[in-house]
Amino acid sequence: MRKKKNISVKAHKKGKHIIRAREKAAQNVSPVVEKYWFQRYNLFSKYDEGITMDEEGWYSVTPEQIAIRHALRCVAATAKPNPVVIDCFAGVGGNAIQFARMCCYVVAIDIDPKRLELAINNAKIYGVQHCIDFIVGDFFQLAPSLKGDIVFLAPPWGGPSYKSIENFTLDFLKPRNGYVVDVFVSQT
Ligand SMILES: C[S@@+](CC[C@H](N)C(=O)[O-])C[C@H]1O[C@@H](n2cnc3c(N)ncnc32)[C@H](O)[C@@H]1O
Repeated sequence: MRKKKNISVKAHKKGKHIIRAREKAAQNVSPVVEKYWFQRYNLFSKYDEGITMDEEGWYSVTPEQIAIRHALRCVAATAKPNPVVIDCFAGVGGNAIQFARMCCYVVAIDIDPKRLELAINNAKIYGVQHCIDFIVGDFFQLAPSLKGDIVFLAPPWGGPSYKSIENFTLDFLKPRNGYVVDVFVSQT
């Protein structure tokens, strides 16, 4: 009797494992980003409602609670009721969505059109797509023509390969070796 129970527990565990593997494959979860998939509800609490991600999106997105804090702090620092936010490197929308939820109007820029499609889908899931203008483009080219109350920068940082670097300095920031930081420091 005990043997039978053990077998069914094993079969149940195996079944769960297979379902998980299928789920991960369907959601673009490569071994590189598996650890981020395990944190999916921290990244987007509405994950199960149809959030879409790609590999860079998985390791780049700002976790929801942190994005909420970013938005709260930025909004508190401006005196305007509905500030315009420029999200210069919008990715799959983690920050843009939380700014929009706090009554900001967001201009969300990303150089990768496919990633921006994912962001549009994710914004719809949070019901804020109408508060965000999605622009495909190189932020460095667009910067001179942009005007906003808040400029939010979350530039690409290189991904999980950071683990092999002993000291991670600003020079490792992409797309141009920390240049993005220089641009803003010199303009403020
Ligand atoms: C760290 S991710 C942003 C994550 C985002 N804050 C979120 O929560 O989803 C950086 C993004 O910058 C984009 N990117 C890289 N170079 C860019 C450029 N020159 N102009 C605009 N976007 C760029 C990448 O495609 C990537 O999606």
